[in-house]
Amino acid sequence: MKTFEEKKFNIPKLKGISEKNIEEHLKLYAGYVKNVNELLSEKEYNRRFPFEFNGMRNHEVYFSHFEGGSTPLTPGGPLIQAGFDLERFKKIALTRGIGWAMLYYDRASKQLIHSWVDEQHLGQLSGCTLILALDMWEHSYVADYQPSGKKDYVEDFFVNLNWGNVEENFITATKIK
Ligand SMILES: [Fe+2]
Repeated sequence: MKTFEEKKFNIPKLKGISEKNIEEHLKLYAGYVKNVNELLSEKEYNRRFPFEFNGMRNHEVYFSHFEGGSTPLTPGGPLIQAGFDLERFKKIALTRGIGWAMLYYDRASKQLIHSWVDEQHLGQLSGCTLILALDMWEHSYVADYQPSGKKDYVEDFFVNLNWGNVEENFITATKIK
């Protein structure tokens, strides 16, 4: 069985989200990778696997968004042309409860889908490729923003976001056969 490697991310200094919070968050990600590898090597079927696997993958997309530093969303670029709606995405992110605000590309219908994923094992969309992942678990922001600062965390996430990375994810997804 092929095992998964813990990825390393080159994350620049961010607005609002402290280095300490990122460091702790990366430890949590490392835990997912470790658990995925352990569960893969178990002989018995384990229902915890989707939770660990999606936790690993979602965090890899989330942290990669910060790499390379902040770049703007291209006006009239591929995501906008495909119907990406930033305000709608922010509203989804501010849904009560913990989980992920997600932008997917549905390869079957060839369209973007804005969605919400509870925790990480409930609600991932089958056959869709993840383009943009915003972690809305409290561990991602409470240390820096307190529970009441959730909205500021969402705003700062988009200030820190390398939109070039997201646009690249989209272009790549449209090419998958
Ligand atoms: Fe997280």
